[in-house]
Amino acid sequence: FRPVVVAVDGPAGSGKSSVSRAAARALGFDYQDTGAAYRAFALHAVQEGVDLTSSAAVVATLPTFDYEIGIDPGDHFVKVGGVDVSEEIRTPRVTASVAHVAKIPEVRAFLVELFRSVIAGSSKPGIVTEGRDITTVVAPDAQVRILLTATEEARMARRSAEITGQSAEETARQLSKRDQQDSKVVDFMTAAEGVTTLDSTHLDFDQTVQAVVELVRASA
Ligand code: C5P
Repeated sequence: FRPVVVAVDGPAGSGKSSVSRAAARALGFDYQDTGAAYRAFALHAVQEGVDLTSSAAVVATLPTFDYEIGIDPGDHFVKVGGVDVSEEIRTPRVTASVAHVAKIPEVRAFLVELFRSVIAGSSKPGIVTEGRDITTVVAPDAQVRILLTATEEARMARRSAEITGQSAEETARQLSKRDQQDSKVVDFMTAAEGVTTLDSTHLDFDQTVQAVVELVRASA
């Protein structure tokens, strides 16, 4: 028995986390948010007090990274050192720190192994795994591979609706800065061979979830 692997990549604000989680729920699958792991590791490095611009110092904190993720889409949590950090990893401070750790090859290699072991450990009929390099690096042999996109305008509008307490301009600036930094590390703007592009610009949330579910059903 091998669970169906659904790999979903996309830029910030594409809706991939909420869409992937809802699709996993609809399918009765597990759900793995890999961005949450990069965020959790960035938080761990910050907590260890290391200089994030020093790759060697950041890499030295890998062995003490005690991470746990809930892969049940109905009970999603992220723990570091046994403490629930699901909310803390979404703070602007952590979001701004992730790029420093995500570009370090040793960190990526470590997390890629972790993501693969979570996929292998799924006891559901399938698992939706979402991030930036899932279709290309983490699970290039996934049965379903999707690049979820939307125009930059649509992504910025969605993100500013989510974030309160800061101007739309500031949100837009942060989003495009993060995409720029991330694009230097992995290419998630163009679909690799065999990857289906799903453009959600003109779809609402439910329609996008439905489109993912249909792609999974069509692959069976
Ligand atoms: O998806 P999310 O916005 O939570 O990801 C946070 C950050 O983690 C991204 O901006 C990126 O730097 C990093 N990331 C990554 N590879 C992944 C998932 C996330 O480099 N597969």
